[in-house]
Parts: sequence; C-alpha cells; structure tokens
Amino acid sequence: MRIVRHHEYGPSRVLRTEKAAPPAHGPEDVLVRAEAIGVDHADVQRRLGIFPLGAPPLPYCPSTDVAGTVVEVGGHVTGIEPGQRVVVWKAPDAYAEFVAAPAARVLPLPDGLGFAEATLLGSTGRVAVHLLQTARVAAGETVLVHAGAGAIGHIAVQAARAMGARRVIATAGSPRKRDFVRALGADAAVDYTDPDWPARVRDAAGPEGVDVILDGVGGPRLLDDVRLLAPYGRLVFYGASGGDSEQPAIPVMDLMGMRQVTGFSMATMLRDSPALAEEGVRLLVRLVADGSVRPVIHERVPLDEAARAHDLLEQRVSMGRVVLVP
Ligand SMILES: NC(=O)c1ccc[n+]([C@@H]2O[C@H](COP(=O)([O-])OP(=O)(O)OC[C@H]3O[C@@H](n4cnc5c(N)ncnc54)[C@H](OP(=O)(O)O)[C@@H]3O)[C@@H](O)[C@H]2O)c1
Repeated sequence: MRIVRHHEYGPSRVLRTEKAAPPAHGPEDVLVRAEAIGVDHADVQRRLGIFPLGAPPLPYCPSTDVAGTVVEVGGHVTGIEPGQRVVVWKAPDAYAEFVAAPAARVLPLPDGLGFAEATLLGSTGRVAVHLLQTARVAAGETVLVHAGAGAIGHIAVQAARAMGARRVIATAGSPRKRDFVRALGADAAVDYTDPDWPARVRDAAGPEGVDVILDGVGGPRLLDDVRLLAPYGRLVFYGASGGDSEQPAIPVMDLMGMRQVTGFSMATMLRDSPALAEEGVRLLVRLVADGSVRPVIHERVPLDEAARAHDLLEQRVSMGRVVLVP
C-alpha cells in the first residue's frame, strides 16, 4: 500500500509517498480501507518540528482521523463488521491506504454522511463540542471563536449557536474567511490581524461583553482575550496554531472579575473522562444529523499530494476541513 511519511523536519516537500505492507492488526483491532483522511494543523506543526508538545520521532506518519470501510476485524472485536462504514479517530500511521486501530477508536458512520465530512466526527469536530462543554456555554451567552474558519473553528461557530449561544463572534485572518464564517452563521466576523481587534469584538458583543472565548491560536492575543471576558466569563485555550513557541503568563489580577481560564486536551479527556468524551461525540453526531452543524470540506486532495494539502493549512488558505483521498 501507499503511505506518506517524512524522514526529517522541514517544508512540505519532506513528505514522501512510499510503499509499505498493510498494517498488522491484533485481536482487538480493526483494519480499515481509508476513503478520506483528515489533515490536522498538528500534522503541519509536527512536520515542521515545532509542535508545542514535542517533535515526533522520525520517520513519522501522522496520526489523524480516517473515514473508510472495514476490511477485517480481530477475533475479540464485537459489533463491527467487514463492509461497515466507520471513522477511526486518531488512527496511527494515518496517511495511508489502510489503517489499523483498536476497535474502541472506531465509530460507525450515520447513513448519508460522506467519508470526507465524517473525518470531522473523529476528533476535530469533537474538540469543538468539548470546548463548548468545557466552557459550560449557556443559553443566551455571547461566544467568541478565534480562527473561526479553521477545521475546529468552523464546527465551533455552528455548534456554539446550536448549544444555546445568542451571539457568536468569529475572528479570521482574511476577507474570504470572514465571509465564510458569516455564511456559517456568525453574527460578526472580526479581523484579528488588526491591532484594534479587541475594540471590534467589544462593538460586536455589546455592553454585556463576551461570556466564552475559544482560542486555539494563542500568542500575546491571549492577554486581550482575558480582558475581553465579561464577569464570570470563561476562556478555553486549546492550541497554538499561531506558531508562538511560548504562551504569555496571564496576570492573576486580570481574573478578579470571576473570570476563568482553562486549557483543553482531547488526550486528557479521553484518558480521564471517557464518559464525557462519549457524550460529546453523541451530541456532535446529533447536531450533524439534524443539520445544526454542517461540516465543510475545503478540498479533497489526492494522498500523493499531501504536501499541497499541508500548504493549504500552512499558508492559511483552507476554510473548513482538508482531506486526503487515497
Ligand atoms: N487541545 C486539543 O486537544 C487539540 C486537538 C486538536 C487540535 N488542536 C489544536 O487546535 C488548533 C486548530 O486546529 P485545526 O485542525 O482547526 O487547524 P486549522 O484548520 O489549520 O485552523 C487553524 C487556524 O489558525 C489560524 N492561524 C493563525 N495563525 C496561523 C499560522 N501562523 N499558520 C496557520 N494558521 C494560523 C488560521 O486562521 P486565520 O488564517 O483566520 O488566522 C487557521 O484557520 C491547532 O492549534 C491544533 O493543534 C488541539
């Protein structure tokens, strides 16, 4: 089978298509033929060797969400059959024609949902829902989603409304992305490359201020986020797509208005709160099924052109999800 790996850190051209045997699978595992492979921002940062949680060992093939068809199941697996359409979240060695993963990471797909869109049920879309749950977003609140045109951001913009937000404000770095987030239902789209962006957010939020902020971009902007929060407001930090190697220290005095700052990690949630994670994915499946959340595919890129797929994220062009198609 074909698999895409990199043997060094560097620009997208370090990604190479190679030949490999299909992955071995044990009694607890499922072997899946990939139909669509999600491309995550973390894949780009790992390739560059700048992922905030450390560079991966080389050679490296990303671990990401893969939707496809079950080919074989291990002897101890129940409830999953060959031929079934599934999504595998965080499949190891995912940029490949076949992936093997423990059955516990495999979710059957609802009828009618395309493979590309289904990759968002894996972990990317769930992160969006879990962020809003972590922030305890409540009916009538105002939510600010930074980088609202990104893979996670575009689900968060829609899910925030579906989970009760009265006003949703999204930031984005280009006019096309701001049009995109408005089309997704954001009440206001703010250019956060403008130094006056906090004032624009205040204008859009009105006198009651911002109750919830989701920030996966990071950098000095986090300090502005805290100051934008209304009393009892919650900021959830979940990533550093802006590429800053360090994040600012938040002055505790800025939290005196009963503001809260917390971090989110999907890995920690899956390890320590599997029931909560299960609840999140059920909610996401329901929101997609009833049409409240519409996953958007920016482009289906052939697997052999994985470098171009990475460029779409790195050059900040993509809106919604980029997938690889074997
Ligand atoms: N905590 C967790 O468990 C968890 C899980 C999965 C992902 N994440 C993190 O979540 C974040 C978003 O992931 P994603 O898959 O949604 O990524 P994505 O689709 O690439 O979106 C990232 C967004 O970041 C913005 N951005 C700002 N500065 C950028 C830069 N220098 N280069 C590239 N993009 C930049 C871009 O929006 P503009 O162009 O509009 O600025 C882009 O739309 C990442 O930091 C990722 O590592 C965290």
